[in-house]
Amino acid sequence: MSEDTISVPAQWRAQHPTTPHIVSLLDYHALYNESIQNPSAFWSKQAKELLSFTRDFHTTNTGSLENGDNAWFVGGGLNACFNCVDRHAIQDPHRAAIIYEPDNPADESRVITYSELLRHVSQLVGFLRERGVRKGNIVTIYMPMIPEAVVAVLACARIGAIHSVVFAGFSAEALRDRIQDAKSTVVITTDEGRRGGKTISTKRVVDEAARECPEITTLLVYKRTGADIPWMAGRDVWWDEELKRYPAYTPRKSWIQRTTCSYFTHPDRLESRKDTAGYLLGAAVTGKYVFDIHPEDRFFCSGDIGWITGHTYVVYAPLALGCTTVIFEGTPTYPSHTRFWEIIQRHACTHFYGAPTAFRLLKRSIEKKDLQNIDNSQLRVLGSVGEPIAPEIWKWYYEFMGNENAAVTDTYWQTETGSHIIAAYAGVTPMKPGSATLPCLGIDLAIIDPVSDEELKGNLVEGVLAIKQPWPSMARTIRGNHDRYMDSYFNVYKGYYFTGDGAFRDQDGYYWIRGRVDDVINVSGHRLSTSEIESALIEHASVAEAAVIGVPDELTGQAINAIVSLKNNHMTETIERDLVVQIRTTIGPFAAPKKVLVVQDLPKTRSGKIVRRILRKMLTGETEFGDTSTATDPSVLGEILKVISCV
Ligand code: WTA
Repeated sequence: MSEDTISVPAQWRAQHPTTPHIVSLLDYHALYNESIQNPSAFWSKQAKELLSFTRDFHTTNTGSLENGDNAWFVGGGLNACFNCVDRHAIQDPHRAAIIYEPDNPADESRVITYSELLRHVSQLVGFLRERGVRKGNIVTIYMPMIPEAVVAVLACARIGAIHSVVFAGFSAEALRDRIQDAKSTVVITTDEGRRGGKTISTKRVVDEAARECPEITTLLVYKRTGADIPWMAGRDVWWDEELKRYPAYTPRKSWIQRTTCSYFTHPDRLESRKDTAGYLLGAAVTGKYVFDIHPEDRFFCSGDIGWITGHTYVVYAPLALGCTTVIFEGTPTYPSHTRFWEIIQRHACTHFYGAPTAFRLLKRSIEKKDLQNIDNSQLRVLGSVGEPIAPEIWKWYYEFMGNENAAVTDTYWQTETGSHIIAAYAGVTPMKPGSATLPCLGIDLAIIDPVSDEELKGNLVEGVLAIKQPWPSMARTIRGNHDRYMDSYFNVYKGYYFTGDGAFRDQDGYYWIRGRVDDVINVSGHRLSTSEIESALIEHASVAEAAVIGVPDELTGQAINAIVSLKNNHMTETIERDLVVQIRTTIGPFAAPKKVLVVQDLPKTRSGKIVRRILRKMLTGETEFGDTSTATDPSVLGEILKVISCV
């Protein structure tokens, strides 16, 4: 192994409270080989071990990547909520399912046991069913990170309804589009939320969105702050008042169902569907083997459940495995930069899972002495997700959060993959700061040369990352647009799933993710599509054309730069600010551009396509632009360079 390798801390295994699920790298390789050589047998065994089916499946999987028609556990039936709640409530009713850490540390935290969780979920199921929610309907959830958000997700799963969790940072317009797409008749929210000491007006945003969603018949509101809020009698109902009328247990025949679908909203409104059993198995297998989760563990994932990280690793993985999920309503810097450490100490967390963007921010302001009274010795595993983690940030994380005692796993995956694709197996895989390390069980990776379209075999190769074999938690379609699903993922390289990321495989077979090779921008771990931001800009009355480019940024990973030309070149003094506001209101504050550049014209190909490649090079300070002969008018480049150098 190369010298940058850090082996698992010697005391890791000795201090383990029980026994790790995989004990050696050899065991990992043996399991991995089995999973690739005989995937059906491997996944069938894992499914039977980790999930409870109400009806056995007759076929583990069918279909191919080439045809985009994969199906898992065919003929089988299970209920995701039963798997995440009932079976643990039966076996160990008093075990904590959720520990809630409120935004303000002075407020009381709450512990919800598995039996309490079952009661809450059952009551909400009773309510939703009475309001007409059935299997296959889509319920929209717009909530802060509180236990009721998890209850809402699980209640949908129990009915077989589809949950569309919209991150509570999205604007009313973005929420409106998602409610309309989903045709939701029921929306669940809170009166307000609290984040980083600030109030978020969730109900007000939903009210605004709902003005153009006449199909909404029920708005269920959980009282989080008790603020005075507008109320629409007939439509709006209080969670606390209403739910207590329903039975605390709902054993319905209808929740014994075939494998059904889950639903995820993407920033670009790409909605991916997965097999429920396949998705849940991906969550459970990675939770068990990558994170080494045991039922006694307290797993703290700081992701929001509006994004895939929260779906899989706040809700489904820890609860399917019957441990305790710690959910945090606030931000890493409120009221102080040591908040994560305090939460980990207070709730004796065994796992922490976060994003490099937060680590970069914290690294700037935390000194060793700030942490001297913290005892986090029970912390066993640290995860990183959402973007590449630079080696110096990795080392800081290992040292400052884990005291060089915990295993670090940099987990590479995507919304579409449902669960981890490349990650170090905690306590097993020798770590390399900056590398996501080795493939997860059942994931057959390929690096493809983007010029020749050939797969590059062996080590020391760089290209685009693809997957050669189906896996259970993969998205099976894009709702209402299967062609787009095929074109984005399967028609790029026939027989492969295309990730959209570039990667390097080093001399030890370790993977290093280089970032997106397409038009996806990753700001602070939030995945944004350039086209959604560009559409928002073009909606502004003065904008003629817009191009959105992601440029490297020290703090946020990438930052958005918007380059626009104006109708009749009509410049106003406030245009840059107006366009930032435009994006904040159409999408949300997290998508606001760092820079807006107004130019006379954008470089285009003869067929009129904006040449983003050249703009990206200009914005990152490169002086060689490659072939510029396709640009209609080369003089526009000079003008753009002038504008860039003035900002
Ligand atoms: C990026 C988030 C490097 C990558 C789970 C991917 C990463 C996109 C990592 C998916 C990582 C995620 N190292 N890059 N550990 N994790 N990415 O769908 O570009 O929000 O394609 O899912 O994030 O973002 P998404």
